[in-house]
Parts: sequence; structure tokens; C-alpha cells
Amino acid sequence: MSISIEKQHPLFAAELSGIDVGADITPEIIAAVENAVDQFAVVIMPGQDITDEQQIEFARHFGPRESPAIAASGFAEKGHRLPQYLFDASNLGLDNEILPPGHARREMRAADRLWHTDSSFNPLPTKWSMLSARIIPPEGGNTDFADARAAYDALDENMKERIEELVAEHSLWHSRKKGGLKTVTNAQEQGLPPVTHRVVRQIPGTERKAYMAGAHARRIIGMDEAEGAALLQELTDFATRPEFVYSHQWRTNDLVIWDNRCTLHRGTPFDDEKFKRDMRRTTIDEFAPSWAKVG
Ligand code: OGA
Ligand code: MN
Repeated sequence: MSISIEKQHPLFAAELSGIDVGADITPEIIAAVENAVDQFAVVIMPGQDITDEQQIEFARHFGPRESPAIAASGFAEKGHRLPQYLFDASNLGLDNEILPPGHARREMRAADRLWHTDSSFNPLPTKWSMLSARIIPPEGGNTDFADARAAYDALDENMKERIEELVAEHSLWHSRKKGGLKTVTNAQEQGLPPVTHRVVRQIPGTERKAYMAGAHARRIIGMDEAEGAALLQELTDFATRPEFVYSHQWRTNDLVIWDNRCTLHRGTPFDDEKFKRDMRRTTIDEFAPSWAKVG
């Protein structure tokens, strides 16, 4: 079967067909996926009926895999439903049943409904996420994506200049509090302390510029805290205007890859006390911090 690509939105997001993620991964396949993500930032690969091991193996070809145990659930419950290298974005507990209301991991996941970039609370920039839909609810539960390259291009020149050299602080606990988590312990704060990333980056591959804000971004280094937070909110609001957004309606066995350096995303509601939604994510880091400037 030959590889084909079909655009889903005027600005970004495309469906990539003709690749079997569970089969042997050739250099041609790696190049096709890298090129597609560079060009479209969000790439949907339908019909990927894969095992956890196949998903983890596929991810290996694109960079260092994040081991998400701590951020995923390590602070919320003992044990892991999924193997190392798989982040559990489901509404399921260790017994594969729907988490009860008020469960600690439910509280942790609530902030996924805010616009964010994955794992920007980690020191290394997150290159891509790859989310596999194993079980989807009968309605709702889309994932929305925003193109932060197109948003950057659309900023006025004053704003581009204002943000060019800025560095932002990101913290998991900031987004969790925004998402409604009431208590964050000292051990949690110290276990995942804040990190910094450049706001504006040139994305390797296309050399297009994009900016990174979203729910983990707390303040701008060297700027009054409230002023920095307001600027980050303004940037997030701008990037998530309707013209920059593609909403993905999941089908079972979709594998969706997105570039966290130049997109924002958020989960959307569904009846999560009634229906299972089993989503499993491999996450790929870059090799160097974002402030190691490219070019
Ligand atoms: C994620 C995420 C949202 C969703 O897996 O990183 O934000 O719709 N998921 O499952
Ligand atoms: Mn996410």
C-alpha cells in the first residue's frame, strides 16, 4: 500500500495512510512520518490496532522516550496500569474499570481539559506525543488542537518583538491547581520543580517559528508575575482562536501524533462516569533544552 496524506484543516492536521505502525519500521517510513509531522504538526494515522509494545517500539525511532510514571500517576496512586513509557490518559483505574468520582487520578487528569502542551513541566522540551485510542466513548471526548505556528505568524510585529527573547517558567502543579486540584504537597512540589523554556522557538525541520504557552506556563522570567501570567494567557487565547483549531473526533485505533513545540491541545468533555475512554500516550523528548538556541 502506498503512503498518502490528506489535509484535515486549512492550516494544519493531516491524515497519513498506508503505514502499519506495528510492522517493521523502515527509514522510508521514519522519513515519511517526520516530514508529515513537520509539515502538518498534527498527524492522524487511522486503523493502527497495536499492542503497548508495538506503540513503544514505534516511538523509539523518533527520539528519547519519556518515562512518565511520576507525572502520570505516581503522585496519585500506587502502581501503574500501563508499562513504562506509556502515559495513561484514560479514565480507568488499575483494575481497568472507570475511576470513581473524586479519585485522585481523576483530579490530576481534569487539567487536561485546559489548553496545554504535553510535559512542558519537564526540563527537556517534548518533541511529540503519540496518542492511541484503544476504547472511545460513543459521544464526546474529542481532542482539540491549535496551530501555534499559524498563530505566531498572525501576531503583530510589536508582539513578535516583545516575546522574541522571553523565557517562561512551567510547572505541572500550576496547571493542576488551575484544573481544580485543591492540595499540592511539598513532596509533590519538590518532586517536580518548575523548569524554564523559551517562549518563541524555531522548529527544526521547517524552521517555522511558533510560541509555547498553555496551562503549565506560569510566569515570565524577569517580568512582574501578574503581568507575565496575563501575557501568557493572552498568547494562549490568541493561539486557540477558532481559525487556528482542529477538533479531532476519535475512531478506535486512531494513532494521533502532534508536535508539542508548535501546537496546543485540550481534551473535551464526555460522560466519563459512564463510558470508558482508554487513551495511551507515548511521548518523545528532544535532546537539548529549548534555550540552547537553534541557528
Ligand atoms: C494527552 C491529552 C487529551 C485527551 O493525552 O496528552 O491531553 O483528549 N489528552 O485525551
Ligand atoms: Mn495532553
